Amino acid sequence: MTQGAIDRKRWCQGQVRELHAWTDKLFSVRVDAAVQPFKAGQFTKIGLFIDGQLVSRPYSYVNAPTQTPLEFYFVTVPDGPLTSRLVRLVPGDPIEVMSKASGFLTLDEVPQASQLLLLSTGTAIGPFLSILKTDQPWQRFERVVLVHAVRLAEELSFAETISSLRADHPAQFDFVPVVSREDTDFAFRARIPALIADGRLEARLGLSIDAHTTQVMICGNPEMVKATTATLEARGLKRNRRREPGQISVENYW
Ligand SMILES: Cc1cc2nc3c(=O)[nH]c(=O)nc-3n(C[C@H](O)[C@H](O)[C@H](O)COP(=O)(O)OP(=O)(O)OC[C@H]3O[C@@H](n4cnc5c(N)ncnc54)[C@H](O)[C@@H]3O)c2cc1C
Ligand SMILES: NC(=O)c1ccc[n+]([C@@H]2O[C@H](COP(=O)([O-])OP(=O)(O)OC[C@H]3O[C@@H](n4cnc5c(N)ncnc54)[C@H](OP(=O)(O)O)[C@@H]3O)[C@@H](O)[C@H]2O)c1
Repeated sequence: MTQGAIDRKRWCQGQVRELHAWTDKLFSVRVDAAVQPFKAGQFTKIGLFIDGQLVSRPYSYVNAPTQTPLEFYFVTVPDGPLTSRLVRLVPGDPIEVMSKASGFLTLDEVPQASQLLLLSTGTAIGPFLSILKTDQPWQRFERVVLVHAVRLAEELSFAETISSLRADHPAQFDFVPVVSREDTDFAFRARIPALIADGRLEARLGLSIDAHTTQVMICGNPEMVKATTATLEARGLKRNRRREPGQISVENYW
């Protein structure tokens, strides 16, 4: 789509407020744009005109629906058509944002339970942070656990947000970091499905994951989503579908 042909009912032109570098590969782009209301956990599309054509991809909102600026958390993919341009943005640059959000990784799709487990790899922590910044999880669940699996410790972004969630909900909230490619004295060195299968995650949290007590939301690397779903299914949990409610709600990032 060329600049002249863009549908201004679907796309709103935003402005970059800030590009925050967490590491040399991980960034938050903070944007001012008059998008339509969305639900925490949803994604939209963001795009840039490259050689005269709009190149756009889906990104989850990291900010809560009531917060500004809009925030999107991304990793630079080697030779990625869009991310290699997103990293060059500077404050004031125009950026296209699809006005209407999409996606069902939202708490209103999740049945009631006493425990909510949010399992993420890499940049897919984003939608869960949006959810955790709202009142809903704290009103609905007795325990809320966020697991963030990354390759390297430096990729555990959002430490301040997580600290303030801990301070605001000390009895309800647990954050479990997983760092798979180096040893640390604070994180598991493993993959999420293995941590569930061998009981280490439950032992660390002092809870049990079962279909009666637990709702699980999983987001990120599709192979992790698949393997984790299979591990949970072996424990008797089922995929959550509108027509057939279950305990496992998922979103794949590619
Ligand atoms: C529903 C949905 C929500 C998404 N939300 C986000 C988000 O919030 N943040 C984000 O960074 N990306 C997100 N993505 C991926 C994003 O849309 C782009 O694919 C990504 O930013 C790369 O764009 P690109 O044009 O540079 O490369 P592409 O050609 O689009 O991607 C090439 C390859 O890079 C790998 N890849 C893509 N995204 C990621 C990722 N996030 N982490 C690790 N490897 C990846 C995959 O192997 C993919 O095939 C989401 C995707 C979907 C479907
Ligand atoms: N950093 C690099 O040197 C490098 C190299 C190649 C590509 N890239 C690019 O960097 C991005 C990778 O992003 P990322 O590190 O955020 O994503 P990632 O590769 O999905 O890794 C995030 C976490 O998910 C785990 N994981 C991967 N596959 C899994 C599976 N099948 N089951 C369970 N857990 C699994 C990883 O563990 P493991 O560590 O055990 O895999 C890691 O802890 C891609 O865009 C890729 O193109 C980077």
